[in-house]
Amino acid sequence: MIFTLFVVFAVASSALGECPVPPTVPGADIGKIAGRWYEISGSQLGGSQERVTCLTQDFTPREDGDFNFTMLGTQHDGSMNIEQLLAIRTGSQNSIDLNDMAKRLPYQVTLYVADTDYENYLATYSCIHIPGYSNIIYGWVLSRTNTMSDEKYAELNDLLVNKVGVPSDVFGPIIQKDCKYWSLSPQ
Ligand SMILES: *[C@@H]1O[C@H](CO)[C@@H](O)[C@H](O)[C@H]1NC(C)=O
Repeated sequence: MIFTLFVVFAVASSALGECPVPPTVPGADIGKIAGRWYEISGSQLGGSQERVTCLTQDFTPREDGDFNFTMLGTQHDGSMNIEQLLAIRTGSQNSIDLNDMAKRLPYQVTLYVADTDYENYLATYSCIHIPGYSNIIYGWVLSRTNTMSDEKYAELNDLLVNKVGVPSDVFGPIIQKDCKYWSLSPQ
């Protein structure tokens, strides 16, 4: 009964605009997302001309226990697109806080792990909750290789769009064909 009430409450509060928080799964270990992931689908703004292809996400463990979060991709003219953020442990094994390298962001951006087995697939979403406004939610379906089975792809896309509420108008497949992948620059 208590569990039922909790679920109803969780759904109700997300309808009121709080960011949806995934349940904690036994055995979850945020440290295991370390390494490279390939974006199979994701939220991308802008027209097709501005879209970046061959996107990867690297979580590189730092000595302080947090991660460098690096997104690499290829722009329309073939040049490299790089975004690097600091991914800070939260104490929860299925979320991580994103900030710029100098921790200067004036608002909190949390990246949540919606589903993963750490070895093959990962579904994440970030949510910015600004009181009085609607949430801004972006989602990603990632794989340890640059492909994913149709079945898993459909399952994780459904999870993000229909259960988490990732807006489907800016969410779609990422081109991972004929890619020359960028490596992390030597430190
Ligand atoms: C993390 O990124 C910073 C800034 O680019 C860099 O100085 C540092 O060496 C990186 N650490 C690791 C472990 O890659």
